[in-house]
Amino acid sequence: MKPAETVPEARSEQAASGLVMRDVNLQIGDGEDVVHALSDVSLVVEPGEFVAIVGPSGSGKSSLLAVAGGLATPTSGTVMVAGRDMTVAGKKTRTALRRECVGFVFQSGNLIPALTAEDQLRLMTKFGKKTGRDPKKLLAEVGLAEKANRRPHQLSGGERQRVGIARALMTGPSLLLVDEPTAALDRQRSHEVVELLARETKEHKVATVMVTHDHDVLSHCDTVYEMVDGKLTRVE
Ligand SMILES: Nc1ncnc2c1ncn2[C@@H]1O[C@H](COP(=O)(O)OP(=O)(O)OP(=O)(O)O)[C@@H](O)[C@H]1O
Ligand SMILES: [Mg+2]
Repeated sequence: MKPAETVPEARSEQAASGLVMRDVNLQIGDGEDVVHALSDVSLVVEPGEFVAIVGPSGSGKSSLLAVAGGLATPTSGTVMVAGRDMTVAGKKTRTALRRECVGFVFQSGNLIPALTAEDQLRLMTKFGKKTGRDPKKLLAEVGLAEKANRRPHQLSGGERQRVGIARALMTGPSLLLVDEPTAALDRQRSHEVVELLARETKEHKVATVMVTHDHDVLSHCDTVYEMVDGKLTRVE
């Protein structure tokens, strides 16, 4: 790891246990077809900080989440989560790191159709590290105590999204990555879901990065960045 003073904005001590991305580039393809999905992206997210990323379609927002969570390997640059190097060689090691440190929430909720809400959470205890978090309690925390036995098709879009968030929190991640959580939701539900993310971020000291098109919900976030053509800049 480079010396602490090179960490962007140098809020380094704390950030060592959140997300630190430094000078990250991601090129997809080669020759004339090369796409610079990420260009010299640096980003620090501290534990308990809720970051939003906005920007046009195709600007590299999902690519940033993929690289931050170790789903994609950057062409150059460093990515540290909870002080661990996410660009480490070896797919197995990266998968293990991801399971230990990272939670993903996708637009659709990505739930398994045949499983009840409670079983979606219980399944995580088979993969992730043991955190002692109880599926029933966590579902109650996200307001779904009464619906633990429902399958995804018996839940509303907002409820499915909340199950997805609870599931991502089961393993006690240091980093929570959320891609367009409100795309399919109305205004009221959007606020509820983003409020929930903000609360969990603070209560469990998670570093959270949410990609969104929804400028309405940015008031719940601590810091807002904009991605344009693979370049990330802070807007507020
Ligand atoms: N597998 C791939 N092969 C080639 N190009 C890709 C691939 N994945 C993404 N890209 C390109 O990388 C760039 C960034 O894509 P990315 O999905 O990160 O954008 P985004 O900001 O999330 O867009 P959206 O808001 O539409 O979801 C785009 O130009 C996209 O076409
Ligand atoms: Mg995207």
